[in-house]
Amino acid sequence: IFAAVEMAPRDPILGLNEAFNADTRSNKVNLGVGVYYDDNGKIPLLAAVKAAEKARLEAMPPRGYQPIEGPVAYNQAVQLLLLGADSELIAAGRVVTAQAVGGTGALRIGGDFLKRLNPSAKVYISDPSWENHRALFEAAGFQVENYPYYDAATRGVNFAGMKSFLLGLDAGSVIILHACCHNPTGADLSDAQWAEVVEICRERGLVPFLDMAYQGFAEGIAPDAVAVNLFAASGLQFFVSSSFSKSFSLYGERVGALSIITASKEEAGRVLSQLKRVIRTNYSNPPIHGGAVVAAVLGSGELRQMWEDELAGMRDRIRAMRSGLVDAIKAQGVAQDFSFVIQQRGMFSYTGLSAAQVERMKDEFGIYAVSTGRICLAALNSNNIGYVAEAIAQVVKG
Ligand code: LMR
Repeated sequence: IFAAVEMAPRDPILGLNEAFNADTRSNKVNLGVGVYYDDNGKIPLLAAVKAAEKARLEAMPPRGYQPIEGPVAYNQAVQLLLLGADSELIAAGRVVTAQAVGGTGALRIGGDFLKRLNPSAKVYISDPSWENHRALFEAAGFQVENYPYYDAATRGVNFAGMKSFLLGLDAGSVIILHACCHNPTGADLSDAQWAEVVEICRERGLVPFLDMAYQGFAEGIAPDAVAVNLFAASGLQFFVSSSFSKSFSLYGERVGALSIITASKEEAGRVLSQLKRVIRTNYSNPPIHGGAVVAAVLGSGELRQMWEDELAGMRDRIRAMRSGLVDAIKAQGVAQDFSFVIQQRGMFSYTGLSAAQVERMKDEFGIYAVSTGRICLAALNSNNIGYVAEAIAQVVKG
């Protein structure tokens, strides 16, 4: 059966973990995957999560099947986080939310559902985008193409190029947008640019699909939801995949959600009925634990405040690492200006390092980064930042 099976390449991001784990050097650093580590190099278990888990453990709840779309309390908490407590869409029953197996699972069930709705549509992702976007939508059966996004010369968004490209798309085209903290570039649209994108989607009849994996890592929960709220105010229908992997430090629990904003309560009912069929044939219904923890934290005033404070702590530490890295590279005598790292938002920096330079960092220093030059700032700490700056200095000096 397997004689003709070819060896597949390693995953461009998670494959780095495999290589990193096999590396025996004690000073190795993993700047590949988007994971937040604390200043001791450990993945934190947030105090709010601990408190909610403790309460669950004490209650010893039974483990029956969940509803196919996940529990109401979780789905409502997701909607509130995305759209705010005074959302008219939520009040009107126009939002469908299903708990999903991480943000990736949300993208996949959204992709499968869209394929049933409009099999001949094309999917457009930013150039560049998260490596898994293309693979996910291709796996759902779509042809996937890029729209212009990053401008290497300005290290910002090529908004003119993006706009004129979107204006040329066929109605029904699916456009994947990073709601905040663009992965991998850290270059986000301004609020005014988002408003223009919303108008283009309306004018061209595009299907917006917002990927929101880093809510809270740019400015905070509400400000990071600007794009979602502009789409919400527009009256358009759209998709949002969201994730608690990073914001709750619950990576392995795979806690995410797909939300679909529909035109009416009646439409929402029909959409949910079809989405449930997609979920049932993928994984039946979502796992309990991670979602229950998130719902418990978001549903308690005290734990929610604790969580928001911890999230702010993560955000601030990443910011400190950004400026710390820029200073440390400068202190190495590097002429090139790296101050753009401070402007980029979220967990990543798109450093401009070439694939060859990234390879040298790995071979000579045991420092792992994505071959595109993306590094995860959230993996820097006071112990390794000097070493990483030294390695960057060495490879850019040639
Ligand atoms: C990343 O981009 O590193 C994260 O989103 C983790 C992943 O699943 O790729």
